[in-house]
Amino acid sequence: MEVKEMKKAFQEAYGHEAEAVYFAPGRVNLIGEHTDYNGGFVFPCALSFGTYLLLRKNGEKHINFRSLNMPDVIKVSLDNLTTPLGGRAWANYPLGVFAQYVKRGIKFEEGFDIMIWGNVPGGAGLSSSAALEVVTAFAIDDQLKTNLTRIDMAKIGQKAEHEFAQVMCGIMDQFASANGKKDHAIFLNCDTLDFEHVPVKLEGVKVVISNTHSPHKLDSGAYNDRVAQCKLAVEQISKVRPIKFLAELTEADFKEVEHAITDETAHKRARHVVGEVQRTTDAVKALQAGDLETFGKLMNASHVSLRDDYEVTGPELDAMAEAAWKIDGVIGSRMTGGGFGGCTVSLVKDEAIDEFIEKVGAEYEAKIGIKPDFYIAEIGDGAKRVE
Ligand code: GLA
Repeated sequence: MEVKEMKKAFQEAYGHEAEAVYFAPGRVNLIGEHTDYNGGFVFPCALSFGTYLLLRKNGEKHINFRSLNMPDVIKVSLDNLTTPLGGRAWANYPLGVFAQYVKRGIKFEEGFDIMIWGNVPGGAGLSSSAALEVVTAFAIDDQLKTNLTRIDMAKIGQKAEHEFAQVMCGIMDQFASANGKKDHAIFLNCDTLDFEHVPVKLEGVKVVISNTHSPHKLDSGAYNDRVAQCKLAVEQISKVRPIKFLAELTEADFKEVEHAITDETAHKRARHVVGEVQRTTDAVKALQAGDLETFGKLMNASHVSLRDDYEVTGPELDAMAEAAWKIDGVIGSRMTGGGFGGCTVSLVKDEAIDEFIEKVGAEYEAKIGIKPDFYIAEIGDGAKRVE
């Protein structure tokens, strides 16, 4: 949908023109999975698809939330911005962001009419919720001139997710949505939040996203279980060597202390995290050296570790990655995001893309019985005001 059409829909819904239009992107993570809440590295990039937010100040004491993707209109009083809506209301994502501003001492004197439209495929693990949180944080900052940094906006989005969606996520998705840069990935240290934009100039190679169309069920509790299992590993390791995060350990350190983890599941989870942090550093170095082959091998190893040790892939993501690995022009392929469904990300040589889509699509559909979708990723900028 064009911005023009969104503005027309806004006018029809509210009887006034929108005063401003904002955008924040979804993301795809190239490598570094389930490392963010363990103080490790991630390497995501912002996508060209994302979420738009149109608004005008309405002179009233409430906020109206509408979305062109959802049927309901949600009206929330300015006195009630810190209370989550019941059920799984979509407006909890933007409302949760308003709540964080209130908690930081910002007073809303006047309400807004808000209209959302997004084109991140829902439930695909490409961070449609982070895009919605970050676009809201960016819009509020611009409207109220609160002068927050993009890092603050990412933190606000993450807190909204914790408090209004009960997903104890790390910072990666919101950070990528706020700080993306066209044709660059973000090499982010999730402990210090130091980051570097690394050019992703792939001669003759594309980043292909394969959607399993099996919902990624991030709010199912399995994600929060992983967070808890990592915490348990930290507690047990800390009896022999005090650490705050698993990512503080090198693979050699881990060998010395792993005996302290008595819980078998926590042990496997920790082994994944320590290995994945190393793979992410190695992958970024390989990319900077133009060594895509090594990058691809690390992507494949990441998937295997997420499958065997972290156990967040499942039959759909495994079928998709296995089908991709068989194609000659595939440099690497792995699940991306939280897992349990959603998407894989693959580096595919230009000349193999048609074959990739045809063969991976056919093999996946034969095995799983769902027709997948494929997108060639365009790496875009972070949140911005469009008009
Ligand atoms: C989800 C979370 C992120 C991150 C990934 C896994 O996308 O929102 O914080 O933990 O899963 O890497």
